[in-house]
Amino acid sequence: MSGENIKEKEKKQKSKYEILLEKEKKLLSAGGKDKIEKQHKEGKLTARERLQLLFDDGEFEEIDRFVEHRITEFGMGDKKFLGDGVIVGYGKVDGRLVFAFSQDFTVFGGSLGEMFAKKVCKIFDMAAKTGSPIIGLNDSGGARIQEGVLSLGGYGDIFLRNVRYSGVIPQISAIMGPCAGGAVYSPAITDFIFLVKKTSYMFITGPEVTKAATFEEVTKEELGGPEIHMEKSGVAHFLAENDEDCIEKIRKLLSYLPRNYLEDPPFIPSEDPENRKVEELKSLIPEDPNVAFDVREVINAVVDRDSFFEVQSGYAQNIVIGFARMAGKVVGIVANNPAYLAGCLDINSSEKAARFVRFCDCFNIPIITFVDVPGFLPGTAQEHNGIIRRGAKLLYAYAEATVPKITLIMRKAYGGAYVVMGSRHLLADVVLALPQAEIAVMGAEGAVDIIFRKEIQSSPDPKSAREKFINEYKNNFANPWKAAALGFIDDVIKPEDVRIKIIKALHTLEDKVDKLPPKKHGNIPL
Ligand code: HXC
Repeated sequence: MSGENIKEKEKKQKSKYEILLEKEKKLLSAGGKDKIEKQHKEGKLTARERLQLLFDDGEFEEIDRFVEHRITEFGMGDKKFLGDGVIVGYGKVDGRLVFAFSQDFTVFGGSLGEMFAKKVCKIFDMAAKTGSPIIGLNDSGGARIQEGVLSLGGYGDIFLRNVRYSGVIPQISAIMGPCAGGAVYSPAITDFIFLVKKTSYMFITGPEVTKAATFEEVTKEELGGPEIHMEKSGVAHFLAENDEDCIEKIRKLLSYLPRNYLEDPPFIPSEDPENRKVEELKSLIPEDPNVAFDVREVINAVVDRDSFFEVQSGYAQNIVIGFARMAGKVVGIVANNPAYLAGCLDINSSEKAARFVRFCDCFNIPIITFVDVPGFLPGTAQEHNGIIRRGAKLLYAYAEATVPKITLIMRKAYGGAYVVMGSRHLLADVVLALPQAEIAVMGAEGAVDIIFRKEIQSSPDPKSAREKFINEYKNNFANPWKAAALGFIDDVIKPEDVRIKIIKALHTLEDKVDKLPPKKHGNIPL
C-alpha cells in the first residue's frame, strides 16, 4: 500500500471514530436542551443524572445506546432520538452488581414504544440470568400513543418479566414524574415503589381522561399524588424529599436485600452488643393492656442501633413493617401498633403485612413478629369489604413462610389475630412472651358479657357480679401461663432480655430448612 493510501485510510478510520464521538455527544443532549431545562425547573434530575447518583462512581455500563424506534406514522420518521427515551445498563451499587433502566421524560414524555420496551426487557433478562436486582426509574406518560399496539405489546413483554422474575430477583421502582397507564402497572408488580414529594404522580389515566369518562374533576395530586399512594391506596412504600433523596433511599433499601432468592442478605458487623439488655422495654411496654404505646419505640430499642428502615410508614399504621439488623443480620419486622386502632388487624394492615411477609420469605429474610393485638376490627365497613378474604392473606403468608420465624407476644394476643400473628400453630420456630402477655380467645370484658350474661343479669348486684367474673377471667385466662403450659409459647421472658433472646434464636435458626409440600403453587386468597 502506498504512503498516500495509508494516510487516506487513517483519515477514514478517524472519521468513523469521530462518528462515534458525535453520537456520544448527541446522546447527552437527550430530548433537547429546552426539555432538559424544563425537567430541571420542575425540580427533577434527568434520566442520566439519576443513574449517575444511583451507581458507584464510574460504575455504570450503558448498553443499547444507539437503539432507535422504527415507526414512520405521525411524522415520527423524522423524530428519532438515540436510545429511544430510556437508558439501560448495569454496574455496582455499594460494590454489588445491579441492573437499571431510567426513563427519559425529555424524549416523547418518557413514553414507551416497541424498541424502548425491547431495551427494558433485555436488561430484565440480563438481571435475572446474573441473579441481580433490577431498579426502574420511571418518568413516563405510558404507552407511546404514536406506536399504537406495538407499545401495548411492549408493556405486555415487560409485565411478563416482572411476574416471571418476581421472587427471583428483587425489583425496585421509583416513580420520579407523572406516570400513567402501563408506566404504573409494571411498578405495581415490583416489590417496592418509591415516590418523590411534589413530582411523583401515579394513575391509570390522568385527570383529563378521568373527567371525560366520569365527569369527575380532580387534580393530579388528588387523583394520584404522593399523599394518596403513601396514606390511602397503599400502592407506594417509600416517600423521598427529592430525586437525590430518592436515590439515596433506594441504595439504602438495597443494603438490606440479597441479590437473588438463592443468596442471604448482606451481613454487616454491628457495634451494638449482642448481649445488650434493653432495660427501657420495662417502661416502653406498659403492663396495663389499655395503655397505648408506639411499637416503633420498642422496635428501635431492640434492633441494632439505627438499623430500622420502615416500609409504608404512612399507611395502615396499626401494623408496622420494615427491615432492621440484629447482630448484623438482616431481619424483617412485623409489629402490631397499639398507638393506632389499638393495634387491631383490619383489611389494610393485613394486606400490608402479608405482602411484606411474602417478600421476606422470597428472599431469605427471617421474620420477627411483635404481637399486641386485640383482634380483627369489627364492623360492616370491614365485613362488606371482605375482611374474611383479605385478612386471610396474612394468615396464609405466615403459614406459607419457611424462613426463620420468631414471635414475641408483648401483651394482647386475642382470638383469630393470635393465631394469625406468627403463632406456633403457623409454625413459628421460637415463640416468646412477656409476663404481661394475654393469650386468650378475647378480652375479659367481652368474654364475660357473653359467657356470664345470664348470671350477671339475674344477680342482685349486676355491676359487682360482672366485675367479679372479669377479675376471675383475667386471673385464669388473661396471662401467658395457659399457653406456656401447653407449649404454644416456648418461654416467658423478662422485657430487658428480649434482644438477647431474639438474637440467640436467630443464630440457632441460621441453618433452618423447611419445605412446603410439592405443588405447582398455592392459591392465596387475592
Ligand atoms: C406519546 C407522550 C405521551 C404518550 C406524553 N407525551 N405522554 N407522547 N405518548 N403517552 C409527550 C407529550 O406529547 C409532550 O410532547 C411530552 O411528552 C411531555 O408531555 P406533557 O403533556 O407536556 O407533560 P405534562 O404536562 O407534565 O404531563 C405529563 C402527563 C401527560 C400527565 C404524563 O402528558 C399525559 O396525561 N400523557 C398521557 C398519559 C396517558 O393517558 N397514558 C396512557 C397511555 S395508555 P411535546 O413534544 O409536546 O413536548 C397506556 C396503556 C398501557 O399506557 C396498558 C398496558 C396494560
